[in-house]
Amino acid sequence: MSEDVFKKIVSHCKEYGFVFQSSEIYDGLSAVYDYGQMGVELKNNIKKYWWDSMVLLNENVVGIDSAIFMHPTIWKASGHVDAFNDPLIDNKDSKKRYRADVLIEDYLAKIDDKVNKEVEKAAKRFGESFDEAMFRQTNPRVLENQAKRDEVHARFAKALNDSNLEELRQIILDCEIVDPISGTRNWTEVRQFNLMFSTEMGSTADGAMKVYLRPETAQGIFVNFLNVQKTGRMKIPFGIAQIGKAFRNEIVARQFIFRMREFEQMEMQFFVRPGEELDWFAKWKEVRMKWHKSLGFGDNKYRFHDHDKLAHYANAATDIEFEMPFGFKEVEGIHSRTDFDLASHEKFSGKKLQYFDPELNKSYTPYVIETSIGVDRMFLSTLSAAYAEEVLEDGETRVVLRLPAALAPIKLAVLPLVKKDGLPEKAREIIDTLKFDFKCQYDEKDSIGKRYRRQDAIGTPYCVTVDHQSLQDNTVTIRYRDTMQQERVAIDKLSDIIADKVSMKNLLKTIG
Ligand code: GAP
Repeated sequence: MSEDVFKKIVSHCKEYGFVFQSSEIYDGLSAVYDYGQMGVELKNNIKKYWWDSMVLLNENVVGIDSAIFMHPTIWKASGHVDAFNDPLIDNKDSKKRYRADVLIEDYLAKIDDKVNKEVEKAAKRFGESFDEAMFRQTNPRVLENQAKRDEVHARFAKALNDSNLEELRQIILDCEIVDPISGTRNWTEVRQFNLMFSTEMGSTADGAMKVYLRPETAQGIFVNFLNVQKTGRMKIPFGIAQIGKAFRNEIVARQFIFRMREFEQMEMQFFVRPGEELDWFAKWKEVRMKWHKSLGFGDNKYRFHDHDKLAHYANAATDIEFEMPFGFKEVEGIHSRTDFDLASHEKFSGKKLQYFDPELNKSYTPYVIETSIGVDRMFLSTLSAAYAEEVLEDGETRVVLRLPAALAPIKLAVLPLVKKDGLPEKAREIIDTLKFDFKCQYDEKDSIGKRYRRQDAIGTPYCVTVDHQSLQDNTVTIRYRDTMQQERVAIDKLSDIIADKVSMKNLLKTIG
């Protein structure tokens, strides 16, 4: 897939009511988006799939909904006040600001692309007899590029680990990375920039307090750890899940809803015995990958990417990356955060956050495995995978969203063949019986072909057409989105046919 397809997806999102630029009539607010009438349904279905997979399928995972505002010391304890920074660099000619690490990552990705293209070309040339591993080990151009990549990558990882801003700049200079806009290498120094938004709580006369808009939902879970453990009589290992808004003053806001300043996270902190965390880390990696793959977009679209730079509190971390139209990108992070957060909150609050383990007959600060996925990135990956343009037998093209039926915003469209003869009334009757279970849409405007196309474009898995025969024998034509096949079925069979495919339960059964 290409940038070109990505542009089409972005305009499709707007045209069909999935995503709008925030404050559009005022020329927009950068990196902030609104979800429209279709988008909110898809987003809610994604959230339900995640929430149910956590709190329905796991007896020992419960949910909470904590406030966005929290005591400012929380962000001192978590390390966000001092260390939630991005290294930024400006180009003096274009006056544009970039993340230094992203410039280098993009450079590395370009080398990867070069190598992969070389391999693909050779695979085509040699056909069946192609030995990819051998080719990678022996081809001089591949070896040269690989060596260059490894060298830059090693320097980059070290610079990040040491927070060495001068070295980051030097890598940019040495690799001759140019500003994509001005095309020049006229770079400033690299500086740290804190990503948290702040505001004031209370009136100034009372002595206003500086508070932050939370940059992650996780801290709301940590500070409620004992509340939930005690009131829920939870025994370790157990998890707390939460879905909610998070805010980051991203420097480089691009790629649509991939990197936003206001976004939504679905996070789960799993509290375990110290020493058992790496086993649980492996377990949650597996569980979360299965959750993604169960959507049926193809296993090759996902990969793990282990972190080069481990945060000081983590002893393992990986990302689940998805193949977006602009390459493999992080959708979810899975982190083994040790006892860093709870221990730090103990220190800053002066309150004990320990668990008494009756089996071991001792108290300890639990270790934590975190799974953290962005709703908006999940939304974007779902749309990217589902979006297809097809040339039909009659030469026409259709745009179809091949969304998993359980996630589709509208499950069923009911279409009277004509706007008269009692067909609209019959169509409404069908909706009135099905609307309690499925999100339905009624549409009587334009030709039936146009109406099918509109439903394809929003990913509706079923269209039901009511015609004159329906009035006589209570049957309708049901059309399937993916195959476009149609069949005549009894109206009272519709509920069963649809329920089977669109049910969240059946999707959850593939992972539970
Ligand atoms: N509590 C851990 C944490 O917040 P993170 O890797 O910074 O970890 C987790 O974020 C996930 O949140 C990411 O994998 C991504 O899906 C999402 N996310 C982070 N920043 C985002 C942004 N600016 N816009 C959209 N989604 C974002």
